[in-house]
This record gives sequence, C-alpha cells and structure tokens, in this order.
Amino acid sequence: MNNHHQTKAFKRYTVTSALPYANGPIHIGHLAGVYVPSDIYVRYLRMKKEDVVFICGSDEHGVPITIKARQENITPQQVVDKYHQINGDAFNKLGISFDIYHRTTAPLHHETASQIFKTIYDKGIFEENDSEQYFDEKENQFLADRYITGTCPHCSYEKAYGDQCENCGTSLNPQDLIEPKSVLSGNKPVLKKTKHWYLPLNKYEDVLSKWILDGHKSDWKTNVYGQCKSWLDHGLQPRAVTRDLEWGVKVPVEDSEGKVLYVWFDAPIGYISATREWAKENGKDWEPYWKSDDTKLVHFIGKDNIVFHCIIFPVILMAEGSYILPENVPANEFLNLEGDKISTSRNWAVWLHEYLEEFPGKQDVLRYALCATAPETKDNDFTWKDFQSRNNSELLAIFGNFVNRTLVLTHKYYEGKVPSLGEITEQDKAVIEQIKAFPGIIANSLDKYRFREAVGEMMNLARLGNKYLTDEEPWKVIKTNPERVKTVLNISLQICANLSLVCAPFIPFTAEKMSKMLNIKELLWDDAGRLDLLKENDLINQPELLFEKIEDETIQKQIDKLQNTKQQNIINAKADPLKPEISFDDFQKMDIRTAIVLKAEKVAKTKKLLKLEVDTGVDIRTVVSGIAEYFNPEDVIGKKVLILANLQPRLIKDIESHGMILMAERRDGSLYFVSAGDDVEKGCKIS
Ligand code: MF3
Ligand code: ZN
Repeated sequence: MNNHHQTKAFKRYTVTSALPYANGPIHIGHLAGVYVPSDIYVRYLRMKKEDVVFICGSDEHGVPITIKARQENITPQQVVDKYHQINGDAFNKLGISFDIYHRTTAPLHHETASQIFKTIYDKGIFEENDSEQYFDEKENQFLADRYITGTCPHCSYEKAYGDQCENCGTSLNPQDLIEPKSVLSGNKPVLKKTKHWYLPLNKYEDVLSKWILDGHKSDWKTNVYGQCKSWLDHGLQPRAVTRDLEWGVKVPVEDSEGKVLYVWFDAPIGYISATREWAKENGKDWEPYWKSDDTKLVHFIGKDNIVFHCIIFPVILMAEGSYILPENVPANEFLNLEGDKISTSRNWAVWLHEYLEEFPGKQDVLRYALCATAPETKDNDFTWKDFQSRNNSELLAIFGNFVNRTLVLTHKYYEGKVPSLGEITEQDKAVIEQIKAFPGIIANSLDKYRFREAVGEMMNLARLGNKYLTDEEPWKVIKTNPERVKTVLNISLQICANLSLVCAPFIPFTAEKMSKMLNIKELLWDDAGRLDLLKENDLINQPELLFEKIEDETIQKQIDKLQNTKQQNIINAKADPLKPEISFDDFQKMDIRTAIVLKAEKVAKTKKLLKLEVDTGVDIRTVVSGIAEYFNPEDVIGKKVLILANLQPRLIKDIESHGMILMAERRDGSLYFVSAGDDVEKGCKIS
C-alpha cells in the first residue's frame, strides 16, 4: 500500500470546483455537492496560511447550450453571457470565495485548450477514425445526438433522443432510433462519413490502475474509488475528443473545417486557463500550480463527473506530458429535495438566486444546513423542515444563544472587559482540555474531506460552551461568589473566540461578525485551541444577534411553492406514448354502445369497485367498474355511458362482469365518464 500522499508535504494547493454549465442557474444540489465543501476546504487552507488558488468558472460549450439558444431564439453567446453573470454573482453573494470565476469562451481558454490538443496531436497520440454520423442535408450540418429524435426501439416512445429515451430511460445511439428526424429541419437525416480524433484511453489502463487502484485505495472516497475500479475492470475504449459542431474550440489542425473539441475535452482545461488568467491578473506564475510535484491538486465535483476527472482528464494531462495529476477527487453523491430528485426541467429545485432574495442575510444558514446534510457518502434529502430546525435548534439555540449570553453577561458584570482567569477547578480543566482538542479534531475531518463530521464538531464546541454556562449558572453565582464568575466568563469568552476561528470556514459571515465583536484581528487556524485569545481587560463590543428564529409561516411558504410546482408539473406532464398501431379490422371488432346505468352499489371489502346494472338496449347486464374512488353509487345511477359490450366476461371479486364502461383518465389519475351526450338514447352503436 502506498501512503505517500498522507505524509507528503505540499507547498501549494490548486483547488478546483466543477465548472457549471452556463445554461441555467445554480441550485442547492450543486451547492451541497461541490461548492460549499470546496469553499470550506479552501477557507480552512487559507486560515492555515497555505498557498492556495481556488478555481471555478462557467462551462460554456457543449450542445445543451446551443439547444437552449435555439429554444430562446438567441445566440449561444447570449445564453452563456446571461448565466455567467447570474451564477458568478450568486456564488459571490453566498461567500463562495473563488480566486477567479473564469469562462471557457475566453480567448485565453481557447488558446490553452488548442495548445494542449496540438501538443498531444503532434506527439502522434490521437487515433484518427472515420465513422458514419447523421447529417441534415437541408441544414448542411452533422447532428449531435441531442439533435436527433425518433421512436425508441425499446418502448416505442416517439420523442426519444439520439442519446437517450426519456420515457424508458434506456441510453441509445442515434442509429438505434426508428424513423430518426432532425430537430433542426424535421427531415430524415442521412448517414455520412466524418473524421474524428480519438484519445486512446485503453493505452493508459495500466498507468491508471497503478495510480488509482494501487495508489489511492486508502485516501480516495469509496464511491469515487469504486467507480474508477469499475471503469478500469470493464476495460477502456478510445474516445472521440472532437465533434462536428460550430460552437466550441475549433480543432487546431488542418482539414478540420466545422469541427470543435468535445466539451469534455476543453472544459477541465478550463481549470488551467482560469489559473493562467488569475496569475496574469495577480502577477504570479501559473505553472507551479499545475506542473510542480509539491502542488496538491484537488478536484471537487459531483458523482456524474467522476469518469471525466479521474480517467479522461488525467489521460489528457499525461498525454500532454508536463502536468501533475490530482491528489484527490472528493466527489459527492446527489442531494434530493423533499424526497424527489432535483430536476431543472421540472423546476424541482431551490434556486440559489431565489434563496438569496427570499432569505436576505441568511447565507450562513444555507451554508450550514447544506454542509450538515451534504450527500458525502450516499444520496441525501434536503427538506425545509430540516433547514428550519438546523437554524432554530442548532445555530440559534446552541451557537447564537451561547455567544449572546456570554457577551451580555460580560457587559453586565464587567463593562465589556475580559475578566481575569483566576483559579480554575477540575471542572474547568476538563473543559479547557476539550477546547484545546477541538481544532485538531475538526482539522482531521477537513483533511479527509469529511465536511459533515467537521461541521458537527464545530457545533459540538458551541454545545460545550452552552452546557458549561448552563451548569455554572454565573447569574446565580454572582451573588455568592463573584470571583468564580470571572473565571467562568473568561473561559466562556475563550470558547467564543475559538468558535469564531473554527466556524469561519463553514459560516464565514458569522465569523466576521464575531471577530468584530471580540476585536480579533486575523482569523488564523493555528490560533485555535489557545486559551489566551482574549487577554484580561481586552474590550468586547456590544453583542449583535448572530441568528434569528425562522418561523413556521416562512417555511410553509417554501413548501407551498414546491407544492405548486408539483401541481404545475402534473398539468404539464407529457402525454403517454401511443400504443402500437392496429388495423381497421382490429377496431371493427369492438362493439361499443351507449347504455344507461340502472343500479349501482359498492362491492363489499373493496375501495375501488362499483357493481353496476346497465341497460345496453339489447340486454340488462352486470358490469364491475373501478370507479368507486371517484363516484358514489347515487351519482352514477341514470348516467348515460359508453360500454365495450363484447368484452369477454371476467370474474372480478366473485362477480361476473360483462363489458367495460369507458372512462377518460385525467393527468392526476381521476376519472371522467366518456359519453355520447345526453341527447343520445341507449343502444346506439359507436363506429
Ligand atoms: N459542466 C459540467 C457539469 O455541470 C462540469 C464540468 S467540470 C469541468 O456537469 F471539469 F469540465 F470543468
Ligand atoms: Zn424508450
């Protein structure tokens, strides 16, 4: 087992967060998965005075962006300009402290991506291959998978995409589609030869196995390691890294008209170009951050990005030849919302820009709640109730309450001056030992990317302080033993000061307020654990409230908002796909007639069934119908209905049912009688 990564001393850190696609806003799933943990990690490193650059930006290429542009009748550039601005602003307001928020449409990015492609090309590493791809002759262009629709070969859904059927979930190749159609012209596309460049991932299997499977078994998260192992066990194939498309980084070699780099080739290179831009703006040298062995490169991503960051991008870097590989890729699983998968198309999300507007000044509450429920080892669920209780029972009741009581008492008894420590008891000693131990415990969790655990320990320090005050009851002791109260408040104040340090990576806005109240100049991680952070007679400012109660009404409003979305989705739900075609003869076989319901009663011991007696004009017969959830017997008597009269009799709950009443089913599953209208008498045939 190779443990060098745990002992190796690094001189600098390059920390990246997945570049979000600039075709939509940021939601809590992105935040909990990637941006909150990476920001915590970086803030912690900065407090340790490490040399660190924190990289992010917009991923602005790829087909989804061109599709969005077509839908909104604007250019792809306009799409990405809009979301680059919105997302950059929103991250900034939440205190996500990127050193740069760059973008992949920047000229420096195009230059960097081209250079890297060219270097690999010149080394003769790419394989050139012709393949047949769908081409739209009217629009004179090749079609990306998403630009082709057709009938799914598995479920017959007519609007399946070239890469996936959204009805049955099967992933497809465009050539699998029955009756393919171009989204651009509506015409049937033709197959045409096209040349592409392939990265021979298969040739890197051995180095990847050594590096990941042998080298990182003990320090990579099991979900990440497991996915890599499964890819490697199945064997890797060469991957095309170019596409026939207008939007993207032009392929920088001859004979490549109309071709661009595949978005997953250029996007991770965006980390490098962003670092270059940052270095340029800050008078630094970018290269050590990407090429020095004593740099620790860490990629924060969601689980859907693992293969790109652990296999494909590292192969690009190895092929280029002068870059380091990531030390770790702490990918998170997915966050659900109120029990359902977050979905942009269904608008099932809490959007960051909306949160910031609806909860002004509460950035830390969201940061705390998301960190505390981050999907680190498995998918997790965000609920508004949990959000409320994280605020009310933890941030407010424990953390805020403790800090507030300590500061209020300091002002009340000592005019805001730190009292002397005096003589300490056994009790105090135990508390002091714990204060000293907390920073190490928290740091250990952070070093292992266990942010939930870390934030839990941060809150445990507040819990310790809160309990200490409650146990010592200085408000009572002041009458009998005022010297003792000095000691208790000195220790409580030291806990407050320690809290302001160790909470800073997680809830930086709160840390900032606290450092102002306590007059702490710089928040340094190495100071945490000390008991002389505040000296005797240091002046403490008036306490400011750190958190406020979030009321039930506020939470209910958010829940209602989601409920509305759900309602709206039911209304907008896509129709069921058509059933396979039948002949006219098939239709002619059905004997459908008008009839009148004469009697109706519930079928005992069932919820759904009514037993009906109907007059079809030729006979009076019994029909069992599954409509009892929506109709009472008395509502049904006298109704003119349509009946499929020649359906084979069936036994339903021991009653022989002769035929079927035709019903229309609404989107929410409720039922409605199909009728020929009230003027039509019983016994008419439908044809
Ligand atoms: N845009 C991608 C996504 O949202 C992530 C790109 S990460 C990068 O899934 F490495 F390519 F930058
Ligand atoms: Zn299907």
